[in-house]
Amino acid sequence: MTTPLIRITHASKTFALPDGGHFHAVRDVSLEVNKGDIFGLIGKSGAGKSTLLRLFNLLEQPDSGAVFVDGRELTALSKRDLRDARRNIGMIFQQFNLLQNATVFDNVAFPLRIHGGLTAAQITARVNECLELVELSGKTASYPAQLSGGQKQRVAIARALASGPAVLLCDEPTSALDAETTRALLATLRDINRRLNVTIVIVSHELSVLGEICNRVAVIEDGAIAEQFALDDAASLAEPRKTALGRELAQHGAASILAARSTPNNADTEAAYV
Ligand SMILES: Nc1ncnc2c1ncn2[C@@H]1O[C@H](COP(=O)(O)OP(=O)(O)OP(=O)(O)O)[C@@H](O)[C@H]1O
Ligand SMILES: [Mg+2]
Repeated sequence: MTTPLIRITHASKTFALPDGGHFHAVRDVSLEVNKGDIFGLIGKSGAGKSTLLRLFNLLEQPDSGAVFVDGRELTALSKRDLRDARRNIGMIFQQFNLLQNATVFDNVAFPLRIHGGLTAAQITARVNECLELVELSGKTASYPAQLSGGQKQRVAIARALASGPAVLLCDEPTSALDAETTRALLATLRDINRRLNVTIVIVSHELSVLGEICNRVAVIEDGAIAEQFALDDAASLAEPRKTALGRELAQHGAASILAARSTPNNADTEAAYV
């Protein structure tokens, strides 16, 4: 059984432009992300992917519509309750967004110190645990400038996981990384999803990135969902697709299913393709 962990209903977002006009960046989007999903949002530059993702934790307030995460309607919360609810939603960015003047340890400790309620010993234990998860235990005293891009993104992941969120939002997390580092980072995200049961929503314009780790994807065009489908289900992959990106992703998904023969629960899909 799958349960929706995130539910967005009829969300729209318009930006005011300096010339007095308006830009409709998200148009009447409704979608559900199930617990345990790695859900991908793909689309061309300017399609509205980042704006849509930022609605998931209300970094952008929708003009209309509602956002539910883990049973709470974020769009109905007070500022204080929203801050509390956001502890359940980690986020990482293309440019890592680390505090440059803080060590790796202090970057990861940052959200724990802000929210309070933990002793210094508890913070140390949690930071070390999170750095171990991303295999950066040896770098606690380093500063961001002393790290590679892949290592910086791992620090960002550790920071996002520090408060034990149910959801991790990722906006183009591998766009600043080379191909090999990208593969390693995707493996880390998959591991976090499986071992910690963290639901992941990942924005990318790179088909290979989403094709590699997502079980479900939505194609965004002009601020709206053009189509969405499962990538881990042969029947869904065999259905006709409305968009060029959807067709390419479906092909990629079919190839991945063939490649992942050792993955459990793939007996049916194997039977359909082999
Ligand atoms: N604060 C803002 N004010 C005005 N327009 C904005 C604002 N933020 C985004 N937009 C516009 O909304 C549209 C969607 O932007 P968004 O950043 O969500 O796209 P994207 O799909 O993430 O693109 P990219 O792949 O380049 O990151 C763009 O046309 C952008 O110019
Ligand atoms: Mg973007």
